[in-house]
Amino acid sequence: MENWFYACKIEDVPANGGVCVKYKEEQIALFNFSRRGEWYATQNECPHRQQMALSRGMIGSQNDEPKVACPFHKKTFSLATGECLSGDECAIKTYAVKIEGDKIYINLHPSAPKGELETHELIA
Ligand code: FES
Repeated sequence: MENWFYACKIEDVPANGGVCVKYKEEQIALFNFSRRGEWYATQNECPHRQQMALSRGMIGSQNDEPKVACPFHKKTFSLATGECLSGDECAIKTYAVKIEGDKIYINLHPSAPKGELETHELIA
């Protein structure tokens, strides 16, 4: 399982919520978007004011784009591409997530530009 690390179990992540997973020095926000049946992982740091906060952000959809809103100043980011949806230049890193049984794995290699690589996998 090259580049994949074990993050946690499915039951550790609240439905339609997120948790922060630490891997070495990295903090990763992992989201269980159960309303859509999807999982996403991004950097936990909000690029606006460098707050480690995105895992506590509200998730939702904007024109079918899955997004997270930072709890501090409500800047929103696409969970699929990392693009800032609030019109700012800043973007966040997104990571691939995969589920095997009840275990969640994250791939820390930053995702390829939109369209070249799936940034998440659906739960089977
Ligand atoms: S720190 Fe996240 S929006 Fe300001």
